[in-house]
Amino acid sequence: MIGMRHSLMTWTLGMFLAFGFVVDAAAADVIYKGDAKCTRCHDETDSAPVLAIAKTRHGVAADGRNLGCVGCHGESTLHAENPQGLKDRPKVDRSFRRGSFTPVAAQNEACLGCHKGGKRMHWASSQHANGNLACASCHQVHTQHDKVLSKQTQPEVCYACHKEQRAQSFRASHHPIKEGKVVCSDCHNPHGSTGPKQLAKSTVVETCYTCHAEKRGPFLWEHPPASDNCLNCHTPHGSNHASLLKTKPPYLCQQCHDFTQHPGTAYSGRGLPVSQGGVAPAQQQLLRACLNCHTQVHGTNHPSGARYTR
Ligand code: HEC
Ligand code: HEC
Ligand code: HEC
Ligand code: HEC
Ligand code: HEC
Ligand code: HEC
Ligand code: HEC
Ligand code: HEC
Ligand code: HEC
Ligand code: HEC
Repeated sequence: MIGMRHSLMTWTLGMFLAFGFVVDAAAADVIYKGDAKCTRCHDETDSAPVLAIAKTRHGVAADGRNLGCVGCHGESTLHAENPQGLKDRPKVDRSFRRGSFTPVAAQNEACLGCHKGGKRMHWASSQHANGNLACASCHQVHTQHDKVLSKQTQPEVCYACHKEQRAQSFRASHHPIKEGKVVCSDCHNPHGSTGPKQLAKSTVVETCYTCHAEKRGPFLWEHPPASDNCLNCHTPHGSNHASLLKTKPPYLCQQCHDFTQHPGTAYSGRGLPVSQGGVAPAQQQLLRACLNCHTQVHGTNHPSGARYTR
């Protein structure tokens, strides 16, 4: 931070030299046109350093747009000038601090003034908006690295409120979130969506197909529950059963398939070779259970795969 302040100062000085005039450095703009109004008091020596914003995309935009401190915080003239010399300086127009005096809706309105639409199309009806979340409860704008935007650090931002999903991520089978390969926002749009549970796509299957395209049909032999909803058998965040299954076969399958006939019978299944029934518990119940034979439960294109055995 100190280093950055130094380089900004050097840059500022360089500009003064280049243009051949000298201005009171204390009143010079540091990042935005007109920001001296604020930066004469707020800089890197402040208890909350603010100048790192220059290194983010909220710094002077490539297209020359000038956000200004006031673009987010409002003109705040009384706060900046305190014309009456009050001991308690009048408040800034908008503060985004946690627990701020500015209502969350008013904070978000300021951000949405520039960020409506796109991924935030459904913000107003999102669970996060209904939960009264501020944009700033996930985003930090005065730091060079906004944690929620990077794969490595995003989950910790979400876990601060979603402890259950953190616990699930430690189960034996899990999406590689802690390994840094998948992030929450691959499956969710935290700004809201038309899907359930703020899913990135409008259905569960569409969301899953974005990475597991091979599970998308059409198949010659569809297994209806798979094209219907992956969550008929899987849980998304973590499971103690292999392959993120909700429960293990044969029980998983027997939730829908009759327990009393093949394949539920332990000792001789209808349609099964005798060698596979008999004295010891049959394969339906052992090891991979139903999956010993029904290997293609997501659907198959094999001409004789009607029973998903190939
Ligand atoms: C003359 C010094 C001075 C100037 C100029 C000034 N501030 Fe402040 N600002 C302060 C002080 C002191 C505080 C802490 C006391 C307070 O909260 O009012 C503060 C607090 C703040 C806070 C935190 C408020 C909160 O409670 O969350 C923000 C945000 C802020 N200023 C923004 C600005 C902006 C934007 C400008 C320019 C438009 C500006 N300030 C100009 C002195 C100044
Ligand atoms: C893009 C919007 C935006 C811009 C531009 C912006 N701020 Fe902020 N400011 C915020 C948000 C959001 C916070 C809450 C903390 C955070 O997210 O980092 C904040 C926090 C602050 C705080 C209080 C820190 C605290 O936690 O008490 C001060 C002071 C402040 N900003 C001053 C400034 C000054 C000075 C400028 C111009 C150099 C500026 N801000 C530009 C959005 C903005
Ligand atoms: C005055 C307009 C304006 C306001 C107000 C504003 N932003 Fe931005 N924001 C921008 C611009 C411009 C960019 C850069 C976009 C680009 O380069 O395409 C940006 C970029 C971003 C990004 C992406 C950063 C990145 O590294 O990709 C985030 C996140 C963001 N803004 C959040 C916020 C939040 C939160 C607020 C409210 C505290 C806010 N913005 C207020 C104009 C604004
Ligand atoms: C629950 C956490 C969370 C909240 C609340 C949140 N965001 Fe985000 N935001 C994210 C995540 C995660 C990303 C990166 C993934 C992505 O782009 O969807 C992101 C990305 C962004 C981006 C950059 C990508 C883009 O779409 O251009 C902008 C701008 C942005 N958010 C603005 C906002 C604004 C404005 C609000 C408040 C209305 C807000 N965010 C509220 C988590 C959040
Ligand atoms: C400041 C706390 C907070 C943070 C941070 C946060 N959330 Fe949330 N989230 C909530 C609240 C509150 C709800 C509203 C529903 C509820 O009560 O659980 C919610 C709801 C959700 C839902 C929908 C749940 C449902 O029942 O429909 C999803 C999905 C979600 N959050 C994902 C995320 C992701 C992904 C992140 C990080 C990018 C994140 N959240 C960050 C507080 C938070
Ligand atoms: C592989 C896709 C995927 C990833 C990655 C993912 N989720 Fe989810 N999440 C889902 C699906 C699908 C649901 C809906 C579950 C349901 O309806 O039972 C869901 C539901 C939720 C819910 C609502 C839970 C409930 O019981 O209503 C929250 C909160 C949530 N996710 C948070 C997160 C967080 C935080 C992360 C990142 C740490 C994350 N998710 C990563 C797919 C994912
Ligand atoms: C962003 C990409 C992405 C999305 C979206 C996604 N997955 Fe995954 N999934 C992965 C990755 C990466 C792995 C780990 C693959 C590996 O380790 O070889 C994985 C693994 C799995 C596994 C095997 C887990 C294990 O322990 O072997 C299942 C089951 C799974 N995903 C189901 C789903 C479901 C259901 C959805 C939708 C809710 C979904 N995935 C969405 C990327 C994704
Ligand atoms: C009828 C139950 C069922 C449904 C519905 C289901 N799966 Fe599976 N899935 C399984 C079983 C059982 C396994 C373990 C297969 C094995 O071990 O051979 C599995 C394994 C997986 C795997 C890891 C191994 C592999 O085949 O790549 C992925 C990824 C996967 N499923 C994704 C999905 C997706 C995406 C959906 C939704 C389109 C879905 N599953 C729907 C039962 C199901
Ligand atoms: C959510 C309910 C559900 C679950 C769980 C489920 N199935 Fe199915 N399964 C169906 C439906 C519905 C059909 C198609 C209806 C039919 O043809 O009888 C079907 C068809 C089948 C068929 C072909 C039946 C035929 O007569 O052609 C086989 C074989 C099969 N499932 C095996 C499995 C296995 C193995 C599992 C466990 C990995 C499983 N199913 C889990 C609902 C389910
Ligand atoms: C040893 C191999 C094997 C195992 C283990 C097995 N099946 Fe089968 N299953 C078959 C064969 C072969 C067929 C085809 C029989 C036919 O065409 O009449 C079949 C047929 C089916 C059918 C179609 C309806 C029927 O009764 O013909 C369903 C449903 C089914 N199995 C579900 C299951 C479930 C659920 C499990 C686990 C509890 C399971 N199977 C275990 C080999 C097996």
